[in-house]
Amino acid sequence: MSNQKLKNTNLKGKKVLIRVDFNVPMQDGIITDDNRIVQALPTIEFVVNQGGRAIIFSHLGRIKTEEDKLSNSLKPVSIRLAELMGKDVRFVPETRGEILETAIKELKDGDMLMIENTRFEDLKGKKESTNDSELGAYWASLGDVFINDAFGTAHRSHASNVGIASNIKTSFPGFLLEKEIKFIGGAVDNPKRPFVAILGGAKVSDKIPVISNLLKTADKVIIGGGMAYTFLKAQGFDVGQSLCEEEMLDLAKELLERGKDKIVLPIDFLFTDEFKDKKPLHVGPITAIKKGEMSLDIGPETLKLFENILKTAKTIVWNGPMGVFEMENYRSGTIGVCEIIANVVDAITIVGGGDSAAAAIQFGFQDKFTHISTGGGASLEYLEGKALPGIECLNK
Ligand code: 3PG
Repeated sequence: MSNQKLKNTNLKGKKVLIRVDFNVPMQDGIITDDNRIVQALPTIEFVVNQGGRAIIFSHLGRIKTEEDKLSNSLKPVSIRLAELMGKDVRFVPETRGEILETAIKELKDGDMLMIENTRFEDLKGKKESTNDSELGAYWASLGDVFINDAFGTAHRSHASNVGIASNIKTSFPGFLLEKEIKFIGGAVDNPKRPFVAILGGAKVSDKIPVISNLLKTADKVIIGGGMAYTFLKAQGFDVGQSLCEEEMLDLAKELLERGKDKIVLPIDFLFTDEFKDKKPLHVGPITAIKKGEMSLDIGPETLKLFENILKTAKTIVWNGPMGVFEMENYRSGTIGVCEIIANVVDAITIVGGGDSAAAAIQFGFQDKFTHISTGGGASLEYLEGKALPGIECLNK
């Protein structure tokens, strides 16, 4: 998918509908991480600089009750966007109707307008989240051209992505969507080798399709984080009170068998006797675990092992933390992996979204990777090799 067409299209005076994913974390109305907004700026700037009239759509949170609306208005997001753009953004607290339509009519070339959270429609008859056909057609009728730049939402088939694209003549991927496709899609479909995937996070059940797909294409699949203990137990080790999904043991055995030349597991651990942020009691191999203990992070020998594999890689995809990085005493594995990947020379390094992206940013590695994905569920599904509706709808 190429943006050459978008770059060659004259947007001057055109009403350009732009779907972004500004589903950003917020606390008491304050945005705690604006990465998704920052990453969408090139597309919005391009439209505005061309003299297009930008009409911006996003969801925020999940809207199930009237009360959910109170904490999920996009108004604070529109203010942050205006700050980052250095230019006014007109916020319309509606998702359809006369007020919105009049505001759109009043737009001048290069202006920006943001409509209220698309999921507010989920409480009305015509739902955003079920891709109501009338709603998609209505939103499409508000513009001349559609740009989908919401990679984070690309695994959803909603009215504001698939619905609009199906009801408008001209639609394009935005620059961020294109970048995500280039890096994540490129890694899965046509990686520079050696290609090493490093997967963590709590649950094997969340990552099975990803592990399964990456075993087909990656040269090595390193497994850390909470899910490593299910694999260790499947190998016959006692993992004590460490996180373990008993019902996944058979599947873990199958994956270990299938990936016997590829899967690499941690070799040492930080042990403690409570799920609390206190110093580890001891460090050692899994066989050193004592009764009532659990491991909350990988140890230094594991980091050396991982480094040896990662340092020669030409493509690295990392998704999922190595330990309980929210706790100060159990973040050295995740920080260590960030450092190792950041120091690999001449490699394409990609951080899947969600927790690993949050950790990379929190620990100051924001600029040390080739690409930090803005997708959580979307990047996982893309790594699974699935076709994402938010991308497919643009191909049609
Ligand atoms: C995300 O944060 O992963 C996306 O914005 C999608 O949100 P959703 O899981 O609520 O659809």
